[in-house]
Amino acid sequence: MDPSLEKLLTASVHSRKFITVLTGAGVSAESGIPTFRGPEGYWTVGSEAYQPQEMATRRMFLKQPYEVWKWYLYRRSVCAAAEPNPGHQALAEMERLFGDRFHLITQNVDNLHIRAGSSPERTFQIHGNVFRMRCAEECSQRLVPVPPDLDDWVRDRDLTPAETALLRCPECGGLARPHVLWFDEVYDEPFYRLTSTLEVARKTDLLIVAGTSGMTNLPNKVAWEVSRRHGAVIVDINIDVNPFAALAVRDGGFAVKDTCSRVLPEILSVFQDA
Ligand code: APR
Repeated sequence: MDPSLEKLLTASVHSRKFITVLTGAGVSAESGIPTFRGPEGYWTVGSEAYQPQEMATRRMFLKQPYEVWKWYLYRRSVCAAAEPNPGHQALAEMERLFGDRFHLITQNVDNLHIRAGSSPERTFQIHGNVFRMRCAEECSQRLVPVPPDLDDWVRDRDLTPAETALLRCPECGGLARPHVLWFDEVYDEPFYRLTSTLEVARKTDLLIVAGTSGMTNLPNKVAWEVSRRHGAVIVDINIDVNPFAALAVRDGGFAVKDTCSRVLPEILSVFQDA
């Protein structure tokens, strides 16, 4: 590891800095979950059939709710079959090390951070979670698990009437929807922790950005808030170029061109030895 990065990380521990990690699909890539814009991503795997940017919309859900549900049940089974990797595990350990000085903001809906041990309280799942569903009419804000009878979903399998009946809101009996932010919807606090995320960004001294292409607006707002904060620095971890890398280096931070599963455990051990 670059000795000046090591020095910065050690200083962050000693001066009790506020540490935030922002993750994207790249942190789960090594668990076998396709990224969104990579060569094997959901945008390309079966894109003719699924057209994800059309499927992941409220408009499509209102038109063909059960087609959208089948796509999410398939993605949920891909996520359920994956295991957290050393990157996820290192982040859970960082939270145990720093407690309330640490927050994890994730765009990933795969639940791998929670399965690795990151707490729901300090993990802001700003795009939702494919293992949860809620009332499509928002009769309440209650999140409920997607029923286990719908596990191991295979691509293109149709829903039986009995399975369709499971996709109902437990409060009003109306249709349930996946608890995931759609492309034609907006971030909010109750479902996606918008206000909490911006509050954390405004007090962050060290932002570690891991495995994201920077294509969505709340993550960009987070990085922008940190870059405006006097003395705050950004460390970007990505196997490719991305807007966060340039921002990090511009403000005296670091851009590490390597995988999350290698770099995050390295950062953890510097924190532990500090
Ligand atoms: N280690 C580090 N970075 C990686 C790795 C890896 N092993 N594998 C891929 N990457 C990087 C890629 O270079 C890319 O910059 O991870 C990033 C993945 O980018 P995207 O596929 O765009 O995923 P993400 O940034 O999370 O997308 C954000 O966009 O489509 C919406 O809601 C969706 O949550 C998603 C959001």
